[in-house]
Amino acid sequence: MKIFVDSADLEEIRELASWGIVDGVTTNPTLVKKSGRSFSEIIEEIFKIVDGPISLEVVSEKASDMVKEAEGLVKKVSKQYQKNVAIKVPMNPEGLKAVKQLSEKGIKTNVTLIFSANQALLAAKAGASYVSPFIGRLDDIGQDGMQIIEEIMEIFTNYDIETEVIVASIRHPIHVIHAARIGADIATIPPGIIRKMANHSLTDVGIQLFLNDWEKVKK
Ligand code: G3P
Repeated sequence: MKIFVDSADLEEIRELASWGIVDGVTTNPTLVKKSGRSFSEIIEEIFKIVDGPISLEVVSEKASDMVKEAEGLVKKVSKQYQKNVAIKVPMNPEGLKAVKQLSEKGIKTNVTLIFSANQALLAAKAGASYVSPFIGRLDDIGQDGMQIIEEIMEIFTNYDIETEVIVASIRHPIHVIHAARIGADIATIPPGIIRKMANHSLTDVGIQLFLNDWEKVKK
């Protein structure tokens, strides 16, 4: 399973990329706001850090405006990195129209705010490169978010659909294990959860024990 960092925090992305575990990045307007930097500043840096798909979200509401905005975003990125741009488009009829047009222009898209397998199927048919089902937000309202990942994976496998499934709105490490067991293509994970995945209290205890014993070894 590929791991994307779900963040616009350049320091965090840089640190995690240095671990050798980052295949891509997803951003959204909320994450950009949280980073405290301008969108232009983020776009300028992020592609230099990670050589993989980077999702940038459009905020227009009409399909024609989304397409213009997407083309503008691609142009903001230096030529060598443009192949890595994935335009995040919301899952609604205008978004689907935009996805169709962008895919015809050879621009990658990531259809976001997906909450059902039917939405994922329509997005894939419109030509989405990626779909992003938000599992945590479904869990929040008392639905089993992971169940729609199972459904989408089954449907996409049945019809050899090439659109990749990004498990999004991940809230804890168990979500990641479930996503990987189901065989999702990608999990986009907030930095704090990636750090939790790397940690185990027994690992820390074990390291301390070895260090203590090493101190006692006759030099
Ligand atoms: O990738 C989507 C993600 O950023 C949304 O997460 O926690 O706001 O539901 P959350």
